[in-house]
Amino acid sequence: MAHMWSGRFAGDPDADLIAFGSSFRFDRRLFEDDIRGSRAWAAALSRAGVLSAEDASAIDRGLREILEKGKADASFVTAETGDEDVHAFVERELVARIGEAGRRLHTGRSRNEQVAVDLRLYLKRRLPLLKGAIAALVAAFVDLADRAGPALMPSYTHLRRAQPVLVAHFLLAHCAALRRDAARLDVVLREIDELPLGSGAIAGTAYAIDVNALAKELGFGRVALNSIDVSGDRDFVASFLHAASLGMVHLSRIAEDFILFTAEEFGFFELSDSAATGSSLMPQKKNPDPLELVRGKSGRVIGHLAGWLASMKGLPAGYNKDLQEDKEALFDAEDTWLASLAAVTSVIAGLQPNAGVTLRAAGGLLLATDVADYLVAKGLPFRDAHEVVGALVRRLVAEGRTFDQLSLPEWREHSPLFDEDVRTAVTPLASVEKKRTPQSTAPDAVAAALAGTREWLRLIDVPGI
Ligand code: ARG
Repeated sequence: MAHMWSGRFAGDPDADLIAFGSSFRFDRRLFEDDIRGSRAWAAALSRAGVLSAEDASAIDRGLREILEKGKADASFVTAETGDEDVHAFVERELVARIGEAGRRLHTGRSRNEQVAVDLRLYLKRRLPLLKGAIAALVAAFVDLADRAGPALMPSYTHLRRAQPVLVAHFLLAHCAALRRDAARLDVVLREIDELPLGSGAIAGTAYAIDVNALAKELGFGRVALNSIDVSGDRDFVASFLHAASLGMVHLSRIAEDFILFTAEEFGFFELSDSAATGSSLMPQKKNPDPLELVRGKSGRVIGHLAGWLASMKGLPAGYNKDLQEDKEALFDAEDTWLASLAAVTSVIAGLQPNAGVTLRAAGGLLLATDVADYLVAKGLPFRDAHEVVGALVRRLVAEGRTFDQLSLPEWREHSPLFDEDVRTAVTPLASVEKKRTPQSTAPDAVAAALAGTREWLRLIDVPGI
């Protein structure tokens, strides 16, 4: 097959090397973006007086036909056509349909900027889907928080019991991280909101293209600052991969929490049967496979980020073929993130909180800080209170008892400041109710945080939620 650039060469290229360099296998995902960019380019050429009105309309009609065909018949775009990339595919199909006018489309433009514009257009339409998937997971957490109601559980530091919290507070912690993930996508969207067209292969274009009008037509907020920079700029791919990596890190931490909390040792939540798998050997097993897979897949997305940064770092200014490596990393990160979000959402939606188990785990020695606060309220400096309670805890550990099993005389052996009211002051519920700050686990604060999260869900402008 003749290539777009065959004129320069006397001999045929090596078929294996052409196959090695071809990206159509994966960049066919940019099909509709490529057509969108080309239609806008043809219109811009026509406005600049470079294309006749007839040629421009023939090109537009041809491109629309190709788009329709691709939409109606997936095999049209997925067939092994031997095209080098999606840009070559579309142009060849166009020329096959409309002849000479099609051969004028590439005037003043290069594939270097075409791929840069296509990838941006692609992400502009795909990132909202990811935001929607993040919002769906937040909604599943909010729903679980509703079902958990006033249930209490221990919070952990160093994976050791720390202080009682509302189960809803713990769930909202994950929502807070997910909301940052959505915000990070907005930042990426701002970064990609830049039109590369008008840059030519590297030096700009010799035709008087109104790039501002073209940017507007394609929905870009601004025009690239520098033709050399933009032809080799894939920073936005790195930014997306970073957003995806951090998003996957959050999903992995969520997965880890629920792998632990649904295990027999914790039993805080019950996995729904639909989200678990059994063992081929051990009949009792109820394994959290989807969560484990998400945790595993986070490594793969982080790998794409690290790999892509490594691919970029040695490149001289301008376009280099190395940049073609951006797409497989980006597409796989996107697919993996989207699939992982869906998987975690369905696991979370099926969880059943075990309020009795979490309440039992929220009592006992993790009320030590509340005992110290009790003494502080009676006037003891906190450092002294810490020491008194530390000694008390040491004793209780040795005796295998907890605070609620102490008689008043026993309390008083440790400090004369203890009174009858210590019994009501030192419970998991009293502990959470004593918290005062808006970000705390105080029931009022958690109710407000839940309402705030619902409001966030209401305002987030994404498809599918
Ligand atoms: N398939 C190429 C890529 O993905 C498109 C740009 C090709 N440009 C070139 N000069 N070979 O980067």
